[in-house]
Amino acid sequence: MTPALILIGYGHVTRRFVRLLDESRAALAALDVHPVIVGVATRRHGRVFDGRGIDAASIADRLVASAAPQRSAADFITDALTALRAVPALTPVIIEATTLDVVDGEPATSHVRAALAGGAHVITANKGPVAFAYRELAAQAEAASRSFLFEGAVMDGIPLFNLVRETMPTVTVRGFRGVVNSTTNFVLTALERGEPFDEALARMQADGIAEADVSLDVDGWDAAAKTAALANVLLGAQTTPHDVAREGIGVETGARAVAARGRGRRLKLVATGSGQGASVSLRVRLEELADDDPLAALEGQANAIELDTWPLGHMVMTQRNGGLEITAYALLSDLVTVSKRAATARSSR
Ligand SMILES: NC(=O)c1ccc[n+]([C@@H]2O[C@H](COP(=O)([O-])OP(=O)(O)OC[C@H]3O[C@@H](n4cnc5c(N)ncnc54)[C@H](OP(=O)(O)O)[C@@H]3O)[C@@H](O)[C@H]2O)c1
Repeated sequence: MTPALILIGYGHVTRRFVRLLDESRAALAALDVHPVIVGVATRRHGRVFDGRGIDAASIADRLVASAAPQRSAADFITDALTALRAVPALTPVIIEATTLDVVDGEPATSHVRAALAGGAHVITANKGPVAFAYRELAAQAEAASRSFLFEGAVMDGIPLFNLVRETMPTVTVRGFRGVVNSTTNFVLTALERGEPFDEALARMQADGIAEADVSLDVDGWDAAAKTAALANVLLGAQTTPHDVAREGIGVETGARAVAARGRGRRLKLVATGSGQGASVSLRVRLEELADDDPLAALEGQANAIELDTWPLGHMVMTQRNGGLEITAYALLSDLVTVSKRAATARSSR
């Protein structure tokens, strides 16, 4: 099957995804997945659409050559999907990886709506749509018999949503707690060693791990968006990041981190969710953890999440090394899921 990929956003994550597609071409072909890139849209760095396919190596040149956008990316999606209708052999898939917005999850949520309305499957690494509009978008996807997948939104590419969706039928998730923001965990670990706050943060920015607006990491907004996303998907809630009691880190956190370490404890930014549906309780808070707590052992960019489930009890997933490659893998694994589902749907028609 031939997914026709339209990339909305061509930043750190999407560029790494394009390389990973190339590196994984043989493995994908073995699964009968033969993706072609047909469109790319950015905010200020150009757009390109070519239904015949765009060579990955030429994307940067063709983007620069294209005119500054007059229309929104949602309109670009609608136009591209209309053009692709003439080629039924292609299965349109929108890859949404624009900048996180914690005011209202826009324009990413509108990109997802436009994609589903135009008949495409949607894969996103952006927390915004899941954190602000999961229920609406999941319903829209189901009504259109399309997939809406977002494995990269939390814990990069570690298969958390996949694990629950595909391997835990009938299980109830009663709550979760985790360290879900790589940038703040990296900075906290550096502060414990007495390193300067700004230098540690600059390293995360240079590596493309921090959000484009780094205050979203340090003020706890990224973790709050992930907390809302987890609650919406796993606890059946209908929350937004604004429903999460939130705390961040700052230069002054250094003294607390060093003092906690001196007592044999670790200071961590912990995201917690409990309850079900309308009665969930959500927070992101600095907590001093005993050293035998699985979250206390996390160094540098590491993340972990503990699920409280029935009947499986407590389980912990740890991601020791975060990074762009892992987020790119989340997009790739979602692409394989979309392809498998589309192939099954075709064969049952
Ligand atoms: N970086 C990570 O490690 C990581 C991990 C997990 C999830 N994520 C999520 O993945 C997403 C992308 O992250 P990133 O690091 O790749 O960000 P990035 O490097 O800042 O790239 C963002 C891209 O989105 C484009 N964009 C922004 N607003 C747009 C709009 N309205 N219409 C069209 N394009 C728009 C930007 O275009 P311009 O360049 O023209 O402004 C840029 O190409 C974010 O939502 C982030 O939270 C990132």
